[in-house]
Amino acid sequence: SRTHDFLQALPKCEHHLHIEGSLSPTLLFRLAATNNIALPSPAIDPAFASPAALSTRYEQFSSLDDFLHYYFIGMSVLLSSADFESLAYEYFCRAHADGVHHAEIFFDPQAHTSRGVAYDTVVKGLSAAQERARKDFSISSKLILCFLRHLPAGDAKQTFNAAQALGHFSDGTVAGIGLDSSEVGFPPELFREVYISAKDGGIRRTAHAGEEGDASYISGALDNCHVERIDHGIRVVEDDVLMKRIARNKTLVTMCPLSNVRLRCVQSVSELPVRTFLDEGVRFSVNSDDPAYFGGYILDNYCAVQEAFNLTFKEWKYIADGAIEGSWCDEERKSALL
Ligand code: HPA
Ligand code: ZN
Repeated sequence: SRTHDFLQALPKCEHHLHIEGSLSPTLLFRLAATNNIALPSPAIDPAFASPAALSTRYEQFSSLDDFLHYYFIGMSVLLSSADFESLAYEYFCRAHADGVHHAEIFFDPQAHTSRGVAYDTVVKGLSAAQERARKDFSISSKLILCFLRHLPAGDAKQTFNAAQALGHFSDGTVAGIGLDSSEVGFPPELFREVYISAKDGGIRRTAHAGEEGDASYISGALDNCHVERIDHGIRVVEDDVLMKRIARNKTLVTMCPLSNVRLRCVQSVSELPVRTFLDEGVRFSVNSDDPAYFGGYILDNYCAVQEAFNLTFKEWKYIADGAIEGSWCDEERKSALL
């Protein structure tokens, strides 16, 4: 249709994409076989009987934690730099087809170092894919190092120090830090210290907040961790003063519509605060989060929003411009994207 073509052609930025969440069941089974990684026995969890069975299970997540259980098992098949490179390059191919011009990609180093895969192995593979995406598709991209919030803050600090010791923040290999995994019970203030170090070092900061957690997780991330962006953030509508503050400060909210439905944060895309954000002047982008787990890449998410809200071309242009303005690329690249 005309609208689908318009949304496809609209130059898009993706800001909320966990690279480990782009691992499809097919690739997961293939890498498990090549790398000799034992998956759970189908006798214990029938979801691991086949890629098709796993896909079906992905349609029935009951919560963020239910998803995370599969997410961490899934990524255990990734071992070599080549595995990370092919995973990320496959994402870039799909993103290019969907009209993505700039991508800021999360990765979870602790989920790899904890099972004996070196931080540098992960980053080498991802960086190689970024370089190929730049050459092949003119896609610019950034890496955002996420801390797992269900682990102690000391582990986050160690991970931060390892990246800093390699010069990855100062040489641009990694653009910033984020915070993900189980939200409720793991408030952002636990990670205040590492975020202050990042701020002092001129390193960009974002955090998942207000996905399953209430609006206090969002204010906690702003006040204690000095984040410049809020990932998910849909529960900001529960605090009008906070929402007006986020609008005034042009803090980008990275919304993930299909993820929110699949993880039962909302019952349908139409419940998301898209209209409220437009009316209140909250800048936001539309993203896929973990596309291989949630049934859609970025264009599917744009189309789901269009289906639910029937936005005008002008409103879409406003959203896309906000996504460019909220990106962490330099002004020259921003001008080229606009
Ligand atoms: N929330 C928290 N942690 C995550 C997510 C998410 O949506 N995706 C991958 N890790
Ligand atoms: Zn996420």
